Amino acid sequence: MLVLGVETSCDETSVSIVRDGKEVLANTIYTQIDIHKLYGGVVPEVASRHHLRKITYVFSECFKEAGCKPEDIDLVCVTTHPGLIGSLLVGINAAKTFALCFNKKLIEVDHIVGHIYANYIEHDFKFPMIALVVSGGHTELVLMKKHYDFTVLGETLDDAVGESYDKVGRVMNLEYPAGAKVDKLAHEGSPTYDLPIPYVNKDSYDFSFSGLKSAVLNLSNKAKMKHEELDLKNLASSFQNSVVRVLTDKTIKACLEYNVKQVVIAGGVAANRGLRETLMTEASEKGIEVCFPKMVYCTDNAAMIAVAGYFKYLEENN
Ligand code: KG4
Ligand code: ZN
Repeated sequence: MLVLGVETSCDETSVSIVRDGKEVLANTIYTQIDIHKLYGGVVPEVASRHHLRKITYVFSECFKEAGCKPEDIDLVCVTTHPGLIGSLLVGINAAKTFALCFNKKLIEVDHIVGHIYANYIEHDFKFPMIALVVSGGHTELVLMKKHYDFTVLGETLDDAVGESYDKVGRVMNLEYPAGAKVDKLAHEGSPTYDLPIPYVNKDSYDFSFSGLKSAVLNLSNKAKMKHEELDLKNLASSFQNSVVRVLTDKTIKACLEYNVKQVVIAGGVAANRGLRETLMTEASEKGIEVCFPKMVYCTDNAAMIAVAGYFKYLEENN
């Protein structure tokens, strides 16, 4: 089955064609990061206008790369939520128009579910499994007992992990999005600063990152008042140490409680080296397999939407 995916929920305009939820024929992405960098974050109005400007170009590039014609497509899948409403509307309208013109079935896809299914492109799922969703807008621990079956065990009570990386990066004068830069610095430093490890409550699977972000901000303000310089590598390492500790501990706790042997990591922060290394090491000691998407499928892309939509269609039609 040839599935067309469309993703415009934030600052990437992406269209993809995927065969049977696995074989990516094309995954065309136009990113607006360079534009939003100037403002230190995504500006919704600017994002929608750039999606509008690029969407037809991204569609035609995708078909060209895949070597397909619109008639070849069996199913159209589009991100409908969560996301910036003006941005979402561009992709939804394009996908609806395509489905209407070529008489194709349209499937609505949740963006977070898309991030989870990004893993399926290279790893088969072994149920029950846990998905740790760590993106710019979301932090969730999800239990899946079968395809398209989601139980949210815990989520962030305030900032998402990626958001806290970006905010801490701003305190450190790093360009948006700062996650990868903080990750790189963290590997060059040591966790010498005393920062809290935000467990919320050891029995709960919920997360909270705003206190940790404020602790970094306080350190920075105090240093400024005393005319002292913070060691940015050690600060990044200390921050990353706290984040990775809490994500790893809660994920492994959930695997043990629900007798899960596979964890998939989803979202932009799945690219984080510290998280990858620590979770891999500590989970494998307990016989748990840890899967990460390829880097290009960690951040927003339409291939993951096509894969998720394909499984939603199979669940609804079986
Ligand atoms: O999944 P994504 O594209 O955003 C949402 O769908 O919300 O992820 C983008 C986020 C940004 O906050 C970015 O700073 C973060 O992922 N990120 C990282 C790394 N690479 C990207 N955070 C930590 N370490 C990284 N290596
Ligand atoms: Zn995303």
